[in-house]
Amino acid sequence: MKKIVIGVTGSIAAYKVLEVIREFKKRGEEVLCVLTSEATKFVSPLSFSILSGNEVIVDFFKPRETPIHINLANSALILVAPSTYNFIGKVASGIADDPLSCIIAATSTPVVFAPCMDTGMWENPVLQENIKKLKKFGYYFIEPEIGELASLKIGKGRFPEPKFIVEEVYRILNSNKRLKDKKILVTAGRTEEDIDPIRCITNKSSGKMGYALAFEARLQGGDVTLISGPSSVFPPSGIKFVEIRTTKELKKEILSRVSDFDILIMTAAVADYTPMQYSQEKIKEKQLTISFEKTQDILKLAKKKNKKLFTVGFSLELEEHIKRAKEKLKNKCLDVIVSNDVSSLSSPQAQVTLIDKNLKTKTLSLLSKLEVAKKIIALIIARI
Ligand SMILES: Cc1cc2nc3c(=O)[nH]c(=O)nc-3n(C[C@H](O)[C@H](O)[C@H](O)COP(=O)(O)O)c2cc1C
Repeated sequence: MKKIVIGVTGSIAAYKVLEVIREFKKRGEEVLCVLTSEATKFVSPLSFSILSGNEVIVDFFKPRETPIHINLANSALILVAPSTYNFIGKVASGIADDPLSCIIAATSTPVVFAPCMDTGMWENPVLQENIKKLKKFGYYFIEPEIGELASLKIGKGRFPEPKFIVEEVYRILNSNKRLKDKKILVTAGRTEEDIDPIRCITNKSSGKMGYALAFEARLQGGDVTLISGPSSVFPPSGIKFVEIRTTKELKKEILSRVSDFDILIMTAAVADYTPMQYSQEKIKEKQLTISFEKTQDILKLAKKKNKKLFTVGFSLELEEHIKRAKEKLKNKCLDVIVSNDVSSLSSPQAQVTLIDKNLKTKTLSLLSKLEVAKKIIALIIARI
């Protein structure tokens, strides 16, 4: 049984979604409806609560044990049907000022929009740009049909048949299950190595790449655990989240879990060196020399502990990127290595080369880290 959230917005076709709810209920799904206040001008929440068998959410600020956007963000899927021109614009602009847009802002589960509107609105380039933008972020769309509209004119913008909507939703849900039953451990962010109680040595990694990979792996149905060093990125919902700070803590968390996992994606920028001495007092010397020793190769240790583990490593070099990445791939017995460019550090974008076990190499153009994550996950799916 899946929990499906159906968001209804202020379209003339809002009544048609009652049939969509019935179709889901017939298939044994749990349905929860969220109506925008404009939707309630077209349909009564009463019909939605009777057909769904659940309370209908309209009021954002009604006192509840858990805020509604946190509670519903973990559903199997969010379907916005019908979806207005206005609502698509809101989500594309990052506005979250009603329960439905806020649930969408907080979720990492698939979101499907079924737009319905007058042809003029559908063809408006502003809407088309918004849809393009949302698709890029991984949102799904069920295209409206060409047919008779509320104005009695014929054109594109008609709400599709409820049965078609339901079939499309299942198709999308199933396409998201390519990592179903896979346990995936993702590491992200940087580690910090202490020098004294106040200072540490670290690197410039932001964690963005690892968080994007955790998001994408979860979207593909994976059971994801994200172990993260210090990072200002907000973890995606629906995953297990473990915070670490030092390389030692990272090693402990990985090695204590790794036997149970199928895939390890190691994006964390682990310190290669750690100070050989730690001062209990704040260091005050005028000149300071610190000796460092090499840290252990956690990826190698993890592979040793779980020989079946599918391992993905990252490499960042200033010279001979590909040659050195290939050497690391072999030395660490990795299944895939991602050769990163130094410009990707802390950036929302990355330019990477993907290399698999057979040394098959693919250099990608400069993409957002979410797009890069999609390509990496697609390669993992193709190789496992
Ligand atoms: C009678 C009537 C029918 C409407 N039908 C649609 C529609 O089918 N699609 C659409 O995008 N907007 C439609 N609108 C405009 C939306 O209701 C309006 O943009 C509203 O602010 C949407 O609010 P919401 O997106 O928060 O639900 C209609 C408005 C009226 C008065």
